[in-house]
Amino acid sequence: MGTLIGIDVGTSGTKTLLLDQSGTILASATVAYPLSQPKPLWSEQEPQDWWDATVKSVREVLDQAGSDPREVKGLGLSGQMHGACFLDHAGTVLRPAILWNDQRTAAECDEITSKVGADKLIELVANPALTGFTAPKILWVRKHEPDVYEKTKKILLPKDYVRYRLSGEFATEVSDASGTLLFDVKNRTWSYELLSILQIDKDLLPPCAESIVPTTKTNAAFEELTGIQAGTSIVGGGGDQAAGAVGNGIVKPGVISATMGTSGVMFAHADEMAVDPQGRLHTFCHAVPGKWHVMGVVLAAGGSMQWFRNNLADVESVLAGHTGRDAYEFITLGAARAPPGAEGLLFLPYLTGERTPHADPFARGCFIGLTTRHTRNHLIRAIMEGATFAMRDSLEIIRAMNVPVEQIRLSGGGARSRLWRQIQADIYGQDCCTINAAEGPAFGVALLAGVGAGVWSSIEQACEATIEVVDRNAVDAATQAVYDRFYPIYGALYTALKEQFRKIADAVEVTGM
Ligand code: XUL
Repeated sequence: MGTLIGIDVGTSGTKTLLLDQSGTILASATVAYPLSQPKPLWSEQEPQDWWDATVKSVREVLDQAGSDPREVKGLGLSGQMHGACFLDHAGTVLRPAILWNDQRTAAECDEITSKVGADKLIELVANPALTGFTAPKILWVRKHEPDVYEKTKKILLPKDYVRYRLSGEFATEVSDASGTLLFDVKNRTWSYELLSILQIDKDLLPPCAESIVPTTKTNAAFEELTGIQAGTSIVGGGGDQAAGAVGNGIVKPGVISATMGTSGVMFAHADEMAVDPQGRLHTFCHAVPGKWHVMGVVLAAGGSMQWFRNNLADVESVLAGHTGRDAYEFITLGAARAPPGAEGLLFLPYLTGERTPHADPFARGCFIGLTTRHTRNHLIRAIMEGATFAMRDSLEIIRAMNVPVEQIRLSGGGARSRLWRQIQADIYGQDCCTINAAEGPAFGVALLAGVGAGVWSSIEQACEATIEVVDRNAVDAATQAVYDRFYPIYGALYTALKEQFRKIADAVEVTGM
């Protein structure tokens, strides 16, 4: 029996799934690695950690399932988007990779926008210059680390670095390439015009294919490490959002997904390329050949809960250690004891700045409305609600663009909590559902590997064969009314504080904190 492997090179770890040819998950393994924040606004990782985690998790799934590695018929790669990994002529990594949530490049974004022109940028690459994207990172390295830049012969996205280690070859695919700001999203090819304006050598970038196309093949070194036969096909795969959308069955108009991972993403399929004139949503190629998607990205949605867990939830973490359960289960129990609206306590989830809708690297997280009545439980509830209000901002833009929204599918860590699912339905003002497949991007790219290997005839067919709705959360009208009352206040708070956020960032810099 042939098997398929999906690998997702995430921000907190690499997750690998082993599937059989009916799409049933035989085994799953996640190997974690650290994130380094050496300076305020910076976010980096060691590509070697991605590779070690890939090898370890692939071995683990094969062991768990007791499956013959020679049965693997195809691999698919997904990963955190926008990261820049700089390699020299020998393929050696020159500096830590700069990640999607790194915010150091405000000056480079301004430089790109003024050099190219805001409208021309949208015309060339369908998106504005945002700090998270790859192109400003390249300019930053060129300016601040000229030695590194001079030695750079290839710049790769995170999953494509893993592809390079798996195969010894360079390649990427359209969905992840879209997030570089160097990609002609409309024509699904590198934007040679923008590359030339920014004086970035086109040979620094790998060749680009559609997501289902077999790009490269695994090499002998990987066979030695895992037993998977050299020559096994690796499909293009997808950036984690497009891949996660495939894993959620978001491959046709009307069904959209709300994913609460570290980042929170509202994602809609588009048959035709659709652009938000204000550039607040990203317009990228979908992993479905010839299709696009629009999405809004909240940088710290689940990330805000991670911050709470890491810094303010010692008790829950100890309980989790003793019971073998997830600390979030205990944390969200607390939130359920506070009422909807958290008695007027609001949380802005801008812990790492914000992308959609504000595109502001200097925005900061805040609790606003604290009184002596508020308890720790209110804080937790306010975090869950604040992250969801931020997601609603993206949903409102999607609705205003007349992209059809008939069904919202919830996924990511946030969808594991019944309470957070209900909060989402009530804040979005639309019934939400969950599906049988909760494995996100790794599942999506395993399906793409199956399409590449001929198991399914198309992505749509792969999704139909494997994905179904299993649960629904209906809107509670009374709670919805509470949230509708607070949502405009939430929106106005950012506007009121915007200037002060900038002053805080300046003060931090000037005082050398
Ligand atoms: C998408 C984005 C994040 C990362 C990490 O634009 O920046 O979702 O891909 O998951």
